[in-house]
Amino acid sequence: MTKFYVISGSTLGTAEVAAETIVEEVEQSFAKKAELLHSPSLEQISDATHLVVICSTHGAGEFPDTFAPLAQAISKSEKPFPSLEKLLLIGIGSSDYDTYNGAIRELAKIFASKGIEPIVEPLLIDVVETFEPDLTALSLFTAHADEFFA
Ligand SMILES: Cc1cc2nc3c(=O)[nH]c(=O)nc-3n(C[C@H](O)[C@H](O)[C@H](O)COP(=O)(O)O)c2cc1C
Repeated sequence: MTKFYVISGSTLGTAEVAAETIVEEVEQSFAKKAELLHSPSLEQISDATHLVVICSTHGAGEFPDTFAPLAQAISKSEKPFPSLEKLLLIGIGSSDYDTYNGAIRELAKIFASKGIEPIVEPLLIDVVETFEPDLTALSLFTAHADEFFA
């Protein structure tokens, strides 16, 4: 059975809105049911078969405070997602920082250390270049949706 989650890691709300926008589109255009969760625990999503993570970067290349426990739990778990088939990682950050999109890059490393690779390299959104990060996230998701749902 498909268990599809769209989750966000956010401090100021941008990544949350992007996640909500993707979930709405998934239901309308792809007729799929996704569960939307902001900074969930690992227990809440460990049965995922399909997972989209949208995470912004704060501090100096760090995870949002509320998302850090999930990253740590994935890191500590031997097999965090036993049923995972498809993973898509979307980062939101600002190229004004040396640590541009550091959080999603770090998350990709954590997944890789568990033998889990996303369907493509993390997709990076630069808020310096887009005024509507949620719509950019949506178009990036849509561009990879066929492969994600295949
Ligand atoms: C205090 C602060 C620190 C930030 N640090 C980084 C950073 O290290 N790397 C980066 O790419 N973006 C950084 N950003 C930019 C945020 O990732 C960007 O504003 C993003 O849209 C925030 O997303 P959110 O609303 O989901 O929290 C920082 C922003 C703030 C306010």
